[in-house]
Amino acid sequence: MPDIAFANGVFLPLAEATVSVEDRGYQFGDGVYELLRVYGGVPLRPLDHLARLERSARALGIALPFDTARWTSVHTYSVTLVPTVVITVRALTPPAESLYTDGTDIVTVPDLRWSRCDIKSLNLLANVLAKQQARNAGAFEAVFVRDGFVLEGATSNVMAVHRGSLVTPPEGPLLLSGVTRHLTLQLAREAGISIAERPLTEAELYTAAEVLLTGTTIEILPVGRINGRCIGEGFPGPITKELMARFRKLRA
Ligand code: PDD
Repeated sequence: MPDIAFANGVFLPLAEATVSVEDRGYQFGDGVYELLRVYGGVPLRPLDHLARLERSARALGIALPFDTARWTSVHTYSVTLVPTVVITVRALTPPAESLYTDGTDIVTVPDLRWSRCDIKSLNLLANVLAKQQARNAGAFEAVFVRDGFVLEGATSNVMAVHRGSLVTPPEGPLLLSGVTRHLTLQLAREAGISIAERPLTEAELYTAAEVLLTGTTIEILPVGRINGRCIGEGFPGPITKELMARFRKLRA
């Protein structure tokens, strides 16, 4: 599959696509983005991703050049600006299969981000630093903790199994409303697994029977160790296994 880009109205090979150095997204991180996955030519939940793109853009006062976009507020800095639109298509290298069978390592990090993490903006500095911290520790993902509460990963959402119930922090300004999070909760409901969308403490993460990450690129990924401490017994745990099987059926 060739790497393709759509930049400001033109399709071209990805390597030839450019953005001006004056672009505000490049200079100020003044932009929003989406990342969605295509299985066998069919995008997974495209409308959920588009709806989130629209919510994120609206939150920053960026007019999306789509019919569905609406101006809800007019900001002085955005009235006369034309947004740069870039779409790229690439083959994905998924995480190694061993991560799904053995469980991943994650670390917890203090949440240095702002208070509108529900906006999928280009301002990912704290996420980049957290991910690097995870890599340096030999871990796959860093999970943000604020005031003792777990929020989400640098590029994923987090769930834990406590007393047979699937627990995940509730949606709000401090985490991204993940499309895969939503889908996983839906699969859990279909499987008759009880769900609790409630604040989750870091301490609860250590005592959880199972911990898992969700995200477009990773799907549902079991966590084996947090800061080097083992979670549950054997990987993946039964609930994670059930959800992974249901997810794989869904995209087959
Ligand atoms: N990231 N939280 C954060 C901070 C994320 O960046 C992502 C996704 C998620 C999961 O959302 P979804 O299920 O819609 O992918 C949660 C993508 C993979 C990225 O930007 O690389």
